[in-house]
Amino acid sequence: MITFKDLVVGYGRAGDILRGVDFTAAESAITCIVGPNGAGKSTVLKACSGLLRPRAGQVLLGDEEIGGRPPAEILRRGVVQVPQHHGLFPSLSVRENVMLGAYVNRKERARNRQRYEEIAELYPLVAERADDKAASLSGGQRRTVEFARALMLRPKVVLLDEPTLGLDPKASKQLAASVTTLNKAGVTVLMVEQNVRFGLTLADHAVVMEGGRVLHTGAADALLADPHMAQLFFGAPPRQEAS
Ligand SMILES: Nc1ncnc2c1ncn2[C@@H]1O[C@H](COP(=O)(O)OP(=O)(O)O)[C@@H](O)[C@H]1O
Ligand SMILES: [Mg+2]
Repeated sequence: MITFKDLVVGYGRAGDILRGVDFTAAESAITCIVGPNGAGKSTVLKACSGLLRPRAGQVLLGDEEIGGRPPAEILRRGVVQVPQHHGLFPSLSVRENVMLGAYVNRKERARNRQRYEEIAELYPLVAERADDKAASLSGGQRRTVEFARALMLRPKVVLLDEPTLGLDPKASKQLAASVTTLNKAGVTVLMVEQNVRFGLTLADHAVVMEGGRVLHTGAADALLADPHMAQLFFGAPPRQEAS
């Protein structure tokens, strides 16, 4: 699991963006962060992957502090961000693209081959299209292959920032299946999603952020059913009382 404790993060010399963020992304569950634009959702993921160094507070992977460690070390410890858009090499085959996920461990050939076989079983698309160029895949299929590639590193935690951005409904559905498959393989998922209904339907747990703080944490389905949240996210104009 990943725990954020009183996390304070900002960019350069500017003021704090995250102003004391506290929550836990539970082990082997899907946690979705929602909230308005500029709330600091992506900033949480950047602090988690090591792109931003905490000014105060902690990011814990299990009991181990990873906040402020170099991105490459955080990756080696098992926290992997699946990149969105143009993540694949179009002229390479699906198999080659997936195998590139193990590039940092490329000397472990037998282990990587075995891992590839496991992944091809998990994502039948990979097995079916192994020799086809990535360029021949649809948008949703490419996203699936990006997930398959991330799994080559046997991640403990996968981070996703707005994975449905630019996807049509069919591709979004494929994406949801990919995330569920990842999670069934025991991976902890921490995601940000601007499509609140989609994100909360997929997730087990929800975190609502606003203004660099956590407003609410709880079960995703409960939040989805909460009339106040429905008003906040689906339909009602921006709240006037917020200041
Ligand atoms: N690279 C950056 N440099 C300076 N400020 C940034 C940078 N990225 C984001 N911010 C600011 O941090 C705040 C939170 O951004 P972000 O975490 O991207 O929000 P969200 O993902 O919730 O939309 C915003 O006010 C944004 O302007
Ligand atoms: Mg964002």
